[in-house]
Amino acid sequence: MNQQQRQKIYETAKRWIYEAGAEIREHMNDPLDIETKSNPNDLVTALDKQTEKFFVDRIHQAYPEHHIIGEEGFGDTLSSVDGNIWIIDPIDGTMNFVHQKRSFAISIGILHNGIGEIGFVYDVMGDQLYHAKRGEGAFKNEIRLEPLDKKKKLEESIIGMNHFWLCENRVVDYPVMQKFVRTVRGTRTIGSAALELASVAEGVQDAYLALSLAPWDVAGGIILNQEVGGVAGDVDGNPWNPLERAPAVVANPAIHDSIIGFLKEGRK
Ligand code: IPD
Ligand code: CA
Ligand code: CA
Repeated sequence: MNQQQRQKIYETAKRWIYEAGAEIREHMNDPLDIETKSNPNDLVTALDKQTEKFFVDRIHQAYPEHHIIGEEGFGDTLSSVDGNIWIIDPIDGTMNFVHQKRSFAISIGILHNGIGEIGFVYDVMGDQLYHAKRGEGAFKNEIRLEPLDKKKKLEESIIGMNHFWLCENRVVDYPVMQKFVRTVRGTRTIGSAALELASVAEGVQDAYLALSLAPWDVAGGIILNQEVGGVAGDVDGNPWNPLERAPAVVANPAIHDSIIGFLKEGRK
């Protein structure tokens, strides 16, 4: 994808994101039609589905040769990263959306042959758009995000993670994670993986750890991080695979290896 193509797709996607965000804000106080998916806490609303369809319809019309991976099933089932792929989470943080009416995001990552080209995370209620183009930096609205602090120490880091790391889980022995949370300065849980990754890119938290994330949870945020030096991969230190659901670590490069070291110690 050359710079001109990238710029055109970026501008179009940005316009659609603002449109979709306005639509969500307009309808968010309508009675919510809530369903559950994989478990009783995995929520989806009609607005999640409508928003994904909004993007898919427009992409099909404007870019019929592009592929789409979307959470709500309006996209394609892909087995290769060839070509242009839009990876879309129409509402990331649906539980926040339903219960708190804030702290949720539209997340879109656009890849070309597996390489992240354009990333967006839009905090819909805060009206803050995080956006990045490959090689051109990452921004929060009009403000360019600084490269991540290469001198950051784990002991002075704030880590985004949820409490499931400290319960019995399939990824890592939790006593090791108890030691981990006592080592770092503090932990936070936002409840939207996309906003967690935007916070890492912004440098207001230094890593985000998740026991299981799908491509749409992270694609937009990983592309933001790519532009400021953030490292994204799985819990064993392997690079991110855009076609797989996996445990994830996205971190400031100065602390990434120490985090992987902790995880290795307790890895199942
Ligand atoms: C969820 C959020 C949440 C994370 C979950 C995701 P959804 O996405 O990102 O923070 O902990 O693993 O599934 O379902 O709200 O789009
Ligand atoms: Ca999500
Ligand atoms: Ca979602």
